Amino acid sequence: MAMGKVLTISGQKGGSGKSVTAVNLAVSLAVYKKKILLVDCDPQGSATQWSGIKALGYPFDLASVLSGRVTIIEAIVKTEFKCLDILPAGFDLFSVASKLARTVSNEKILRLFLEDIEADYDYIIIDPPSSYGFLSVAALTAADWLSIAMCPRYNSVEDFRCLLQLIKYIRDTHETTLKIANILFNRCKTNMEINQFLADQNLLETKDLVCHTFIPEDETVKKAIDKKIPLALYDVKSPASSAYLSFAKEMVLGFK
Ligand SMILES: Nc1ncnc2c1ncn2[C@@H]1O[C@H](COP(=O)(O)OP(=O)(O)O)[C@@H](O)[C@H]1O
Ligand SMILES: [Mg+2]
Repeated sequence: MAMGKVLTISGQKGGSGKSVTAVNLAVSLAVYKKKILLVDCDPQGSATQWSGIKALGYPFDLASVLSGRVTIIEAIVKTEFKCLDILPAGFDLFSVASKLARTVSNEKILRLFLEDIEADYDYIIIDPPSSYGFLSVAALTAADWLSIAMCPRYNSVEDFRCLLQLIKYIRDTHETTLKIANILFNRCKTNMEINQFLADQNLLETKDLVCHTFIPEDETVKKAIDKKIPLALYDVKSPASSAYLSFAKEMVLGFK
């Protein structure tokens, strides 16, 4: 990406595929030899679990960093992919975030920590929670770009308008240049379904932002989640895994 390399996967609605996308985009970019840091910014810890590092164990996580107990470098975990590091999260993040949320300027805290290590990576990918709470705002404040994970079955024009208002709040409050990188459709069957959704929801104005690649509905996604490994390790030839590799390629080419 030309200016800034921090990308938050957004979409607000739970179930639109943010965590699946964060994990599998991070792995796919690492497969293409990009040096990646995946930051789990959700107390649910989906990205931490699904990337497979839970089994490896780790002493610290994002909560340890935000509470000032360790440096960000101490909390970053290496993975079996040479180019992929992870900053994990778990439920501890919930109480740390509740305390930080009392002060608006704390919304910038993740951004400040990431500035220390930004030079070590090609891209930093953040997986936020689905709420409009402190952690989502912190994840978007840290970002230069956001990718919107959109699912025709769960999302609507109202969700999109809310997200635009949140982007405006963040730009105005924290003086960042947060921009929408693209919209990734997930759990689709055809391009026609996407076009129909955009037309039905009065979202045709966003068409230029929509990725060529979409992620198909694919049972393999759930199987890989059950096994707690990324798609590329479960079945690299599955439709969803191939789609995430294409998305990664589109991402790299689009932001040179
Ligand atoms: N492309 C897909 N095909 C099949 N199931 C999917 C797909 N993407 C997501 N899912 C299912 O949807 C659930 C929610 O996805 P998740 O990434 O956790 O969404 P979010 O992080 O936005 O809440 C996953 O647990 C998975 O079961
Ligand atoms: Mg999630």
